[in-house]
Amino acid sequence: MATHGEQLYEGKAKILYATEDPNLVIQYFKDDATAFNAQKRGTIMDKGACNNKMSSHLFQLLEASGVPTHFVKQLSDREMLVKKLQIVPLEVTIRNITAGGMAKLLGIEEGIVLARPVFEWHYKSDALGDPLINDDHILALNLATSDELETIRQLSHRVNDMLSAYFAKRGIDLVDFKLEFGRHDGQILLGDEISPDTCRFWEQGTRRKLDKDRFRRDLGDVEAAYQEMLRRVLE
Ligand code: TMP
Repeated sequence: MATHGEQLYEGKAKILYATEDPNLVIQYFKDDATAFNAQKRGTIMDKGACNNKMSSHLFQLLEASGVPTHFVKQLSDREMLVKKLQIVPLEVTIRNITAGGMAKLLGIEEGIVLARPVFEWHYKSDALGDPLINDDHILALNLATSDELETIRQLSHRVNDMLSAYFAKRGIDLVDFKLEFGRHDGQILLGDEISPDTCRFWEQGTRRKLDKDRFRRDLGDVEAAYQEMLRRVLE
């Protein structure tokens, strides 16, 4: 483990530590897993190391294709050095195939290939269960500016285009995913992580689930699914 300063924040899956540089923080990836707003808790062995490696790889790929991210470098198995963000209190979800929250919200089956990607804003609040909101809510409550919303929307669609193509080449459908953004030096950067915790990955053809739904829905072989996704991402 690299030396790090005081703990700034502990979330459900990660801890943030200060560094000597006030502009940089360390993201430490835990094995802890929660679902349904932490009503279900568990551990997924080696998840922290897996999600750190996968996110580090994907952030570098996205940077190279013009998506600015908070990634600086991978420090160790479970530690990533990142630019310190003032988090925008929104979670972006993009969906390519119906599943999870969208299937439930609209009472439709999972697995329908959408005619176009569906972009959703959610208000980042554990207490409220990250409710779905629209641009008006965000602007009326000054959660972000309209320029920031436009930037986040464009970057999110670019992430979807990039990652959908990247995973398709590896035999995986990117069903949906969640992104978080923050402000750093007046610029909007992609933050958080990109991993089986934050994406739905289905094997093409079989639709075998290779993501956190195996934990959420007690499908078994959770660790193996995370390791298989890491292998596929790095190949
Ligand atoms: P949902 O269908 O439950 O709304 O989830 C959409 C995507 O967002 C899915 O890929 C899993 C991810 N996600 C998170 O990263 N964090 C969360 O707290 C939730 C509910 C979903």
